[in-house]
Amino acid sequence: MSETTNDLRHLPKPEAWRQLEAQIQSILDGMDDDITAMSTISCLVHHAFNHLWTGFYRVVTPGKLLRVGPYQGTLGCLEIPFGKGVCGTAAATGKTQLVPDVHAFPGHITCDSRSASEIVVPVFNRQGALIAVFDIDSAQLGAFDPVDQVHLERVLERFRGT
Ligand code: SME
Repeated sequence: MSETTNDLRHLPKPEAWRQLEAQIQSILDGMDDDITAMSTISCLVHHAFNHLWTGFYRVVTPGKLLRVGPYQGTLGCLEIPFGKGVCGTAAATGKTQLVPDVHAFPGHITCDSRSASEIVVPVFNRQGALIAVFDIDSAQLGAFDPVDQVHLERVLERFRGT
């Protein structure tokens, strides 16, 4: 398989995700360094769909604070407290947040004023502890749906060591 960063926007979403998941799995096969894996996933997902922002906020103080990176795209807020905004809500609840309109989400944090919709998926390690959240922000309303959720959650299962 080619290890280039492919733009997959010409494909129907399920097929784009099928190819992307295969690419991520092949490139990261056997990789046990979380930062290397997070950087590579950010890069591949970002260039596949070309939304505004794609990346991780890592847990630096469990239950309290997230800090940005690795990511791709426009400037991200450096820190997000648990419970604040969409990322902080995903971290506090441990549940994926699918937000079709960020302006309708109470407490949404605006890092890029063009952001209109987003998906944030919690990331757990093999002990079941939350280590990060993965966030994609789009300039289009309703850019994400349960298809994205299912595939992203599966991609991020690798941090559980499965
Ligand atoms: N939109 C996010 C903040 C992070 S960034 O936009 C990169 C939120 O409300 O959690």
